[in-house]
Amino acid sequence: MQTITAAAPSSSDQTIRPISDREFALFQKVIYRETGIHLTPVKKALLEARLMRRLRELGLTSFEAYYRYIQEGDDNDELIVLIDRISTNETHFFREPKQFEFLENQVFPAWQAQGHSANGTRRIRVWSAACSTGEEPYSLAMLLSDQFGTGTGWDFEILATDISTRVLAAASAAVWPIAKAGEISTRHLKKYMLRGTGEQAGKMKAGPEIRAVVRFERLNLNDDHYPVEGKFDLIFCRNVMIYFDHQSRARVIQRLVDHLAANGFLFVGHAESLSGVTDRVRYVLPTIYTGSSQPQPALMPGIAKNHGVETSR
Ligand SMILES: C[S@@+](CC[C@H](N)C(=O)[O-])C[C@H]1O[C@@H](n2cnc3c(N)ncnc32)[C@H](O)[C@@H]1O
Repeated sequence: MQTITAAAPSSSDQTIRPISDREFALFQKVIYRETGIHLTPVKKALLEARLMRRLRELGLTSFEAYYRYIQEGDDNDELIVLIDRISTNETHFFREPKQFEFLENQVFPAWQAQGHSANGTRRIRVWSAACSTGEEPYSLAMLLSDQFGTGTGWDFEILATDISTRVLAAASAAVWPIAKAGEISTRHLKKYMLRGTGEQAGKMKAGPEIRAVVRFERLNLNDDHYPVEGKFDLIFCRNVMIYFDHQSRARVIQRLVDHLAANGFLFVGHAESLSGVTDRVRYVLPTIYTGSSQPQPALMPGIAKNHGVETSR
């Protein structure tokens, strides 16, 4: 619990001093230390806009006072609020469709043919490492349920983590505006999604089959140690490293690769290359890497022909 008490919120038209360069530098530092997110000076106005409401809620009139409020708290509660307010959570179902096609057309058939996944068992383990409001892990749940669902002799689990408690709460609720249905194929919508009625009209909810296979936890990718057990067949860490500087990105990738099965796959965002970041993974296709040092013969020829060299984006 936060022990410091802020001044009682004053009238809604209280004047908050615009953030100064010095104040921005203080927030830059604390945000980098906590999250690995490097805010460049062009983000100053964005940071100010995102935190203004919080200052108003607390009755504070300067960013320096808010910085002191965060520092003087005896635990991390306000830091979590800060991170929640500043993080960018944009996400979509089946975002970057080529990655999902790669799974459906190449990886899953290869696992079926060899009778086990990359971890050597018929229990597939997947990690969505910056899951935002859940669209990414539930997209994976739909694809995996299609091929490895009940009665197939296979089993799978999806761990979905994020630093932001706000997005994790939304992801666990698994409710989205119906407008998001356009991101999902009709077949998947019919099979896995429920349409809201009455008070829930205009919304859709993930059905029980896919809700049962996703587990949510808070995890900060910038922490030195990840409290997750064992190796994963697939790790998705997409559209988060873009906010990290080279050093943070390299450290995150090292830790993720420690949790990747030797023949597992690591997926990054469309603007995130691992070239020059680590030599522990091999390039497969744009934004797709494997922990394996060998081309995998079970996969289609298009994959082997890249010879581990990142050629085109
Ligand atoms: C733009 S969203 C990407 C969501 C999804 N992976 C996708 O590609 O659609 C970025 C997510 O990264 C999370 N994030 C930012 N810094 C993080 C950190 N240090 N550790 C874990 N998650 C973080 C944010 O809270 C946000 O939900």
